[in-house]
Amino acid sequence: MAEVQKGLEGVVVADTITSLVNGVEGKLIYGGYKIEDLAENALFEEVVYLLWNGRLPNTTELEELRSAIAREAVLDENLITTLEGFPKDANPMAVLESAVAALAFYDGESEDLSVEAARRKAVRLTGQITTICAAWDRIRKEQAPVAPRADLTLAQNFVYMLSGEEPDKTASDAINVYLVLLAEHGMNASTFTSRVVTGTGADIHSAVVAAIAALKGPSHGGANSAAMKMFLEIEDPANVEQWFQDNIKSGKRRIMGIGHRVYKALDPRADILRKHAQALAESSGNTRWFEIADKLADTALSDEYFIERKLYPNVDYFSAIVLYTLKLDVDMFTPLFAMSRVAGWSAHIIEQIQNNRLIRPKANYVGPQDLEWKPASER
Ligand SMILES: CC(C)(COP(=O)(O)OP(=O)(O)OC[C@H]1O[C@@H](n2cnc3c(N)ncnc32)[C@H](O)[C@@H]1OP(=O)(O)O)[C@@H](O)C(=O)NCCC(=O)NCCS
Repeated sequence: MAEVQKGLEGVVVADTITSLVNGVEGKLIYGGYKIEDLAENALFEEVVYLLWNGRLPNTTELEELRSAIAREAVLDENLITTLEGFPKDANPMAVLESAVAALAFYDGESEDLSVEAARRKAVRLTGQITTICAAWDRIRKEQAPVAPRADLTLAQNFVYMLSGEEPDKTASDAINVYLVLLAEHGMNASTFTSRVVTGTGADIHSAVVAAIAALKGPSHGGANSAAMKMFLEIEDPANVEQWFQDNIKSGKRRIMGIGHRVYKALDPRADILRKHAQALAESSGNTRWFEIADKLADTALSDEYFIERKLYPNVDYFSAIVLYTLKLDVDMFTPLFAMSRVAGWSAHIIEQIQNNRLIRPKANYVGPQDLEWKPASER
């Protein structure tokens, strides 16, 4: 019997030019560029272009992509009406799954499976997912959704559509960094899901819906909301030690936002986000949540259990503090992850279409054989 690689650990399933995740040294590269340089300098749209084209855009190409995403971010009125009919307490990730599935109804190219159509649909999906996230947050608060503006970047548009006011620079710059950092990450669970669906010949909307579903879980994108709930539960930096003893040392729970399948060193994105979280917390005048997160990370990093297993904060740990300080609702954190990761999903979907073969692994059958059939009345 073939040996099972539980969780497909170490299994290589594709060649890609999107990103390199070096888990041993804690390095991340998108299309040849260090994540540190991109986080410092790049507009999210520049990263999107890089992931979809394998090179950075010039000024004209960047402006074309920025304006196309902004223009295409408008939602069909019928979709807004559908969103208004959803229960106001619905999980925003479930709303996003449903809304993205419905986007296909209003996309004239939804069943065109060519690479060219996938590229055009990727532009639309990138803009529309942002609009859905902002619109849903307003609709559930009984506020009218705000349409995207053609002159803004995606990060600015999100802040604008959420508040209905001229986008604040600090907030939109922080959202831009967040989007850049989360855009792509190798063969993670949601990206693999999107490739599996694409491998069957299904369309990009279906692949992205499936990816959103995979992202929802707390072992993947759901960890950012779960991390924030944990910080809120701890309540005060003075409670960290006791909380760690009661919940983590006792083996009852895991620290959300810590540990990674690939990184056995500090996730470089966590380092960048920590600095942003600290700066935002200090300028907001409330450092409590940052202090809790930092103290808990220090406690874990000096604990034998975490040291032995090489468990470090991942991207979701300090991003929770960044998003909370920007006053986003905790259950909106994972939809924001999707807003960014749609760039990486689309890049992988396009690569998969260009070099496709049905993804179909095997399982070892370990059940009984040669059982004798008996009718239900005799069982
Ligand atoms: C990310 C994650 C799912 C990776 O899982 P994985 O590669 O399958 O690793 P495992 O679940 O096999 O964990 C390896 C060991 O570390 C421990 N561990 C992993 N993450 C841990 C955490 N956050 N807190 C405490 N212990 C943890 C496991 O209990 C296991 O210990 P064991 O060898 O004694 O059984 C896991 O680290 C986790 O659950 N982290 C919290 C959720 C999270 O932040 N997810 C976002 C990832 S970007």
